[in-house]
Amino acid sequence: MHEKFYLEAYGCQMNVYDAKVIINLMERSGFQEILDPGDADILIFYTCNIRENAAKKVFSRLGMLKTSKTKVVAIGGCVAQAEKDSIFKMSKDVNVVFGPHVYHLLSSYIQRVLNGETKQVIDIDYIKDDKFCGKLDRERVTYSEFVTIQEGCDNFCSYCVVPYTRGREYSRPVKDIIADVKYLVSNGTRAITLIGQNVNSYMGEAPYINIDVPNTPWKLERLIRAIAEIDGIRRIRYTTSHPKDISVALMKAHAEIPLLVPFTHIPIQSGSDRILRLMNRGHTSSEYLDKLKMFCDICPTMQFSSDFIVGFPTETFRDFEDTLRVVDEMQYTISYAFKYSRRKNTPADVMPNQIPDLEKEKRLKLLQDTLMKYQILRNESLLHKTQEVLFEKVGKKDGQYIGKNVYMQSVVVESTTNIIGEFRDVLIESAGTNCVFGRVL
Ligand code: 5AD
Ligand code: SF4
Repeated sequence: MHEKFYLEAYGCQMNVYDAKVIINLMERSGFQEILDPGDADILIFYTCNIRENAAKKVFSRLGMLKTSKTKVVAIGGCVAQAEKDSIFKMSKDVNVVFGPHVYHLLSSYIQRVLNGETKQVIDIDYIKDDKFCGKLDRERVTYSEFVTIQEGCDNFCSYCVVPYTRGREYSRPVKDIIADVKYLVSNGTRAITLIGQNVNSYMGEAPYINIDVPNTPWKLERLIRAIAEIDGIRRIRYTTSHPKDISVALMKAHAEIPLLVPFTHIPIQSGSDRILRLMNRGHTSSEYLDKLKMFCDICPTMQFSSDFIVGFPTETFRDFEDTLRVVDEMQYTISYAFKYSRRKNTPADVMPNQIPDLEKEKRLKLLQDTLMKYQILRNESLLHKTQEVLFEKVGKKDGQYIGKNVYMQSVVVESTTNIIGEFRDVLIESAGTNCVFGRVL
């Protein structure tokens, strides 16, 4: 009999990707995924602790989902890496604690618990390449896939746990990435998103040519150029970037490679130079703005999204207004705003003058309103234009399909045939706050 597992994943795109691979590897080892936790023998939580109290959230979900049928509980990802064996103290129900670098070993750990060999297993090692060895099974490959090219972060922004959970920066070798992309494309993938915590600091081992050719590592733009040569690809994205690593060569790649979308996510976090210094971001707001302006000069169709943190320790209303000024200047297509969240063992957690939650709420609302104003303007700017859209899912109403244009704007159309996974040209006829509506040409 196949033991049944239920998996719940939270967090960033890297976690979404990891979770898909975990499900695939578990099934390959003879376990069966089910979508009803009530019937599961095994509960797996793949966690994120970038904001809020992630451990608490996982344990409350565990409390809700655990039944008399549950034989094994596994907690993985960044919470596991951060909390280590203290997870066993927080809940005696947990059997397996696995970090984000060892998920390829999860099925064997679960099997050991099921066999009665042990009650508790913990593995939070920083193994490097091994977990990337398992490709998705052919039948799981879809029209749009993530490919991890880089992991970890060396930037140590003072508010962030990622350098401690995902570890130091590591770039996968070019030949492995190219092999993964070719495999995906040969199985129907048309849109590739290259992912990494610091994707534009990618510096991967170059393919070996011969002894006379120096094997200098490739940067992101070189990798993208090689991927764009692979027959069958229609769209390439990468995420997420740090402003200091955006190079002129990468800007030129956007201008020169039609498959590379003229859109990228470059978080600034705050518009105040004093706060950026305290955040240890390594750039000022004018350095950031100058870089993005240069980007637009080199590739005039370029648009951007960003992340923002409001209410960082000591942030005054004046500092916050500097952030609003950046938004007014950049007029982002889409953006993500967060209230600063204190994270254990990060430098910002022990900074004086933490901002009260009510004040953070107020600033968040003001920032979101400003971001929304430009999001709507960007949506309206599409009116009566034709957009190439990759359709991803059905809409709320019968016959409705939703896809994304190159700028990640959601486009809704009606269609009598299923167009999920297909690129279509769409004439935009009206614009809303979170999407635009159009007609397939
Ligand atoms: N509090 C609030 N937001 C945070 N982020 C990272 N750490 C924190 C924190 N402690 C946000 C940043 C980052 C995004 C992925 O999450 O904006 O770019
Ligand atoms: Fe965290 Fe900063 Fe690294 Fe992004 S660049 S993952 S915010 S430390």
